[in-house]
Amino acid sequence: MVIILGFIAKLISSRSLKITKSVLLSIELIIVVIKLSLTKYKLGQTMKLTIISLILIFTNSCIQNEPEHKWLSGNEYERLDTVAKHLRGNDLVMWEVDFRHKKLYEAIKTNNKPYALYQLKKIGLTMELGSERRSKRKKSYDWFFENAIPVMQEAIENDDKPIEEFKSFTAKCVTCHTMEKVAYMPVIKPWEK
Ligand code: HEC
Repeated sequence: MVIILGFIAKLISSRSLKITKSVLLSIELIIVVIKLSLTKYKLGQTMKLTIISLILIFTNSCIQNEPEHKWLSGNEYERLDTVAKHLRGNDLVMWEVDFRHKKLYEAIKTNNKPYALYQLKKIGLTMELGSERRSKRKKSYDWFFENAIPVMQEAIENDDKPIEEFKSFTAKCVTCHTMEKVAYMPVIKPWEK
């Protein structure tokens, strides 16, 4: 019995334990051995409970010790935070927004309504996800979602002076830069190019 308990303790303490076929086989083997011991030696109630608890702790330790990820370390939350860090912050959102802002202008200018709506939708999406991931600029984004995107969308859908509305839309980009204290970051006016 002492040998079995020692074996269990050794397995529990090994940190890099993985749920492999051999580990599962070992668990089965231990259970069989313990069952035999219980019937053969007529152990007391406390001893039985101790043994059952040890089996449970051991099984639990196997489940928690998942195989190590190739490059992500820490617990599940820490790993998700690392992935979010790799998705980057508002700087990368703006990179995409800037690209799509120009494409939006081209689409409006060539009367390509579905393409214009597509670009506007993607501008809104990347901003929304960025604002969710890093909530620092959420208040300003919410202002933009309420005051810039819907009017731009309506102007495209209804062919209601979309170029004029695009200029106003661009001015709202600048307003947000001022609100966020990055007014020194210029917003290109594609119609001046
Ligand atoms: C939440 C308000 C907000 C809105 C709305 C916004 N921006 Fe920005 N923008 C910022 C902030 C803040 C930065 C500075 C980058 C950062 O977050 O570190 C920035 C940076 C930029 C940059 C510089 C990126 C670089 O790395 O050089 C460009 C270009 C840009 N925005 C274009 C736009 C355009 C075009 C629009 C409108 C379609 C827009 N922005 C709407 C807040 C905003």
